[in-house]
Amino acid sequence: MGRVQDRVVIVTGGAGGIGAAACRAIAAEGGRVLVADLDAAQARAVADDIVAAGGAAESTEVDVTDREQVRAMIDRAVDSFGELNVIFNNAGMNRPRGFMDVDQANFDEIVRVNTWGVIVCTQEAAKQMIAQGSGGKIVNTGSIASRQGFWDFVPYCVAKFGTLAVTQAAARGLVEHGITVNAFAPGVVDTPMWVGLNEDIRAIHDQPADADPMREFATGTLIGRPASPSEIAPFLVYLASSESDYMTGQMYMVDGGQVLV
Ligand SMILES: NC(=O)c1ccc[n+]([C@@H]2O[C@H](COP(=O)([O-])OP(=O)(O)OC[C@H]3O[C@@H](n4cnc5c(N)ncnc54)[C@H](O)[C@@H]3O)[C@@H](O)[C@H]2O)c1
Repeated sequence: MGRVQDRVVIVTGGAGGIGAAACRAIAAEGGRVLVADLDAAQARAVADDIVAAGGAAESTEVDVTDREQVRAMIDRAVDSFGELNVIFNNAGMNRPRGFMDVDQANFDEIVRVNTWGVIVCTQEAAKQMIAQGSGGKIVNTGSIASRQGFWDFVPYCVAKFGTLAVTQAAARGLVEHGITVNAFAPGVVDTPMWVGLNEDIRAIHDQPADADPMREFATGTLIGRPASPSEIAPFLVYLASSESDYMTGQMYMVDGGQVLV
């Protein structure tokens, strides 16, 4: 028996670094996974890998900010696997700018994906879980930027502080239905997201092409290096499993000791 045997788990942003690692780890523990992402081809590739390794997975294209598409994603999980037990709201993005250069378009885009997307996915997943009547688990993705403000990351910090607010509020409101809501907060994880972040940060600070802001930032952790996605994934299996049933409304740092709260 796996730790999440037969649980039906949707992972948004499942084609990306942390999301794909979560999909693989959950499937390896017996979960049935719907890999959901804007990038349909990469989501399909992750699902195909899982199936080739003997796991259960499907994939779907979704924009987490679009309610119709989110509804279709939930329906796809239920049609494929019969129910929905866990949603991992992991889809996210950032487009760093120095604070003085943030404009409304930059702000709106980042908050829309990272916070509004979490609200829409939580609402639609909760409707399905409430209708099933057997509880469920909602796991959100925060960040060290949910706990501290960073000059180049202000809309992202607002969005990720917002994810903490949504986590706490939804935990209070959904507990009567047996649904727990938690979040985890990574620090610096070596994923494709950092390709764009490194470029943006180098441009903001006029750094040379060989500068590596990701590694420089990670030296600020107690552990002193970035995490790999596979180091994060076991905690996500735990949050998806019955082992975490007594936990709700919390955001857990998994950040190598970058932020001490
Ligand atoms: N990498 C880090 O250092 C780090 C640190 C803290 C938090 N996070 C958070 O972890 C999560 C995963 O990040 P990652 O590092 O794996 O990034 P990533 O870029 O590798 O993966 C993110 C995935 O989300 C998808 N996505 C983006 N917008 C979407 C949308 N509107 N609808 C559906 N899918 C969408 C992308 O296509 C991509 O596959 C994000 O929420 C990110 O903010 C990452």
